[in-house]
Amino acid sequence: MIIKSIVIKNYRNYDQIKLTFDKKLNIIIGENAQGKTNLLESIYVAGFGKSFRTNKDSDLVNFNKEFASVRVEIEKDNGYLEVIEYRISQKSKKEFLINGVNITRISELLGTVNIILFYPDDLKLIKDSPVERRKFINRELSHISRVYCADIIAYNNILEQRNELLKKIYFKPEYREMIEVWDEQLADKGARLVVKRRQFLNDLGEISAKIHSKITNHKEHLTIEYLTSVKNLENYDTIKSELIFLLSKNLELDIKRGYTSVGPHRDDVDICINSINIKSFGSQGQQRTAALSLKLSEIEIIKNEVGEYPILLLDDVMSELDVNRQKDLIYALKDVQTIITTTDVKNLLDDYIKPSRIIKIKNGSVLNH
Ligand SMILES: Nc1ncnc2c1ncn2[C@@H]1O[C@H](COP(=O)(O)OP(=O)(O)O)[C@@H](O)[C@H]1O
Ligand SMILES: [Mg+2]
Repeated sequence: MIIKSIVIKNYRNYDQIKLTFDKKLNIIIGENAQGKTNLLESIYVAGFGKSFRTNKDSDLVNFNKEFASVRVEIEKDNGYLEVIEYRISQKSKKEFLINGVNITRISELLGTVNIILFYPDDLKLIKDSPVERRKFINRELSHISRVYCADIIAYNNILEQRNELLKKIYFKPEYREMIEVWDEQLADKGARLVVKRRQFLNDLGEISAKIHSKITNHKEHLTIEYLTSVKNLENYDTIKSELIFLLSKNLELDIKRGYTSVGPHRDDVDICINSINIKSFGSQGQQRTAALSLKLSEIEIIKNEVGEYPILLLDDVMSELDVNRQKDLIYALKDVQTIITTTDVKNLLDDYIKPSRIIKIKNGSVLNH
């Protein structure tokens, strides 16, 4: 799929602009603080229903305006057009429409537009705690599977209720027999999550190893390994029964702590380059490139799941790569509609730039379009 056009009103530092995009490469050029990331963000919100920079929707509305509105036109590979519109106001609830119809759940957006964003903050994926890696997995899997999205919400609800019960049992042991009901449900949803995560991380591992090799000139071998408390990952049934076993084995500890200490909510991913864990031992450059490889792998994963390529948004990625790697990267993305922000293009060779659209942004306005 591709994004054909966008109309932005009162979003962040924009007043009103309309842009059309090339179906391959689009380069947004501008100095710092001109609105490049804001533009990518406005597209991202159309795909995910929320920003990657803030949880406060009202931040997205221009300081001097009451509301912001954005209209994005998407063309699917079969030629169908989908129009996504949203309106965010300082006071009332945000509204999203698909082809003119109000949607009640944000998850409806996830099935309509597929967007992948690479943002400098994605380094967190490598450097930060397991929470960031779980967020990444949940976000990506929710995006390609509505069932996963429903399962993770259900899992978290059940987990919360189990944790409530654990706290009660501590003071009133007679509640203890009720725990089994929650264990059964938690293990069911948990096993469903683990099955999907295992598959996703397998695919991700294979594809990201290839991409990483490409963008490091075959010097580095990237591997990723799923770390989960379940040992026998054969199928749903084996995973579920092991989860039930682990929950009951840890029950005493859980009652003391007042929370559930095992399960998919504690999963992590081990990311290595040439067999060395890069969270602890990788250089900043290796960490950045690994984060980029992981993100770019999703392009293929989404293509396999959804049947068409997603739209790729790359924020400020060029400045971190040398000229050869910039070329390799752009070449590797030739089948995907890409929107890249950068402060200048003089490094990029003409051959690569020629077929693309260049959009210059200054202080929330488009200079040449
Ligand atoms: N709600 C808002 N209203 C008006 N301006 C905003 C709002 N939010 C951010 N900005 C402005 O947007 C600019 C940053 O834009 P950004 O897209 O991050 O820049 P860059 O081009 O460096 O990516 C800053 O000058 C900031 O003050
Ligand atoms: Mg920026």
